[in-house]
Amino acid sequence: MKPADKPATEPTHVPVSLNQRSYEVVIGERLLEQLRLFGESQKPTSVLLVTDSNVGPLHADAVQNAIVANHVLTVPAGENSKSLSQLGRLYDEAFATGHVDRQMLIVALGGGMVGDLGGFLAATLMRGVRFVHVPTSLLAMVDSSVGGKTAINHASGKNLIGAFHQPAAVFCDLHFLTTLPEREYVSALAEVVKTAVLSGEEFVAYLESNVEQVLRRDLQAVKHVVESCVRFKAGVVEEDETEMTGQRATLNFGHTLAHVVESLWPERYLHGEAVAIGIGAALRLSVERAKLNESAAKRVIRLLSSFGLPTEVPPELSEAEMFRVMAGDKKRVGRAIHFVVMSEIGQAGSLPCKLDDELGATLLGRGNA
Ligand SMILES: NC(=O)c1ccc[n+]([C@@H]2O[C@H](COP(=O)([O-])OP(=O)(O)OC[C@H]3O[C@@H](n4cnc5c(N)ncnc54)[C@H](O)[C@@H]3O)[C@@H](O)[C@H]2O)c1
Repeated sequence: MKPADKPATEPTHVPVSLNQRSYEVVIGERLLEQLRLFGESQKPTSVLLVTDSNVGPLHADAVQNAIVANHVLTVPAGENSKSLSQLGRLYDEAFATGHVDRQMLIVALGGGMVGDLGGFLAATLMRGVRFVHVPTSLLAMVDSSVGGKTAINHASGKNLIGAFHQPAAVFCDLHFLTTLPEREYVSALAEVVKTAVLSGEEFVAYLESNVEQVLRRDLQAVKHVVESCVRFKAGVVEEDETEMTGQRATLNFGHTLAHVVESLWPERYLHGEAVAIGIGAALRLSVERAKLNESAAKRVIRLLSSFGLPTEVPPELSEAEMFRVMAGDKKRVGRAIHFVVMSEIGQAGSLPCKLDDELGATLLGRGNA
């Protein structure tokens, strides 16, 4: 390793303890050597690297060399590639290599899209092969790479076809974030704030004191953020791997309204921006129905705003439209759906709410007008 390539900090290893499916999330800078050693230890018959058209040209060569990948398969960048047709293409290309067997290793190099798609490829090829996620977006590092949810989208909705398939390891190499576009980086901070609110006072206070460092991607600050998020998510996944007890569902804090915003304006908002708006709404609901202190809610809104994230619902969103998307089916409007609410920072719960005018006014933040 050249002196300039030396990591400034030692990597951290966060365990995700799931019996035979346990693995480590390695967080640090310039982890290619660690990746190489891991690849060697796995002794795969072949390695297939899946990436997208933005990340591939920037980082695939280095990762391919480190893990000694036999083939690189590239899908177009963007959420549209989480599709049955791109998955089908990947199966075709994988079999065409002549290197598919149960001892192979799939490496997903990219953001959450590549992680979900490559992970589902690994979950289904030969009834499941090992896979490693090398997340390159902040969202994938703090959220999607941990926990084993893999999926593609369907015309009926996002992530409707998928599987739980835990990775064999995750390598969060913070160096990759240097090429991540600013808007993508900032958008992911909404998931960071969400995790902080769920995890408790310490992480929220850390973010409040380090807004500027986080925004300028200061290595120590970003490492602390990624590590805190990974530790928190690992804990939740260890308790409720397949979302059966409801604990993992608390990670959806802010996501009910975010889903509405994303569905109605897929081109206008990135996922994290929609989540920030959804957190704003979920906080208002928490103040009204879960006794969350108003000053705590304001504090979180201020934090989101200090990262430059939106927190107001688009003024053109009507109550009827919001409920239609939330219920997923016009016939269900009027019935209750469950929201994640906070009674205090670090204390989340689930609250069934009837889709009525009172709820509409709270979520939209328009008083009772
Ligand atoms: N599995 C889970 O638990 C889970 C959790 C949350 C989100 N997700 C999924 O994750 C996806 C969103 O993830 P995302 O925001 O990372 O989206 P993404 O993978 O589409 O990445 C966003 C954009 O950034 C680019 N990019 C990524 N890393 C880069 C880098 N280092 N340099 C330059 N460009 C880079 C990508 O090419 C893309 O254009 C969605 O599909 C969502 O459903 C999954």
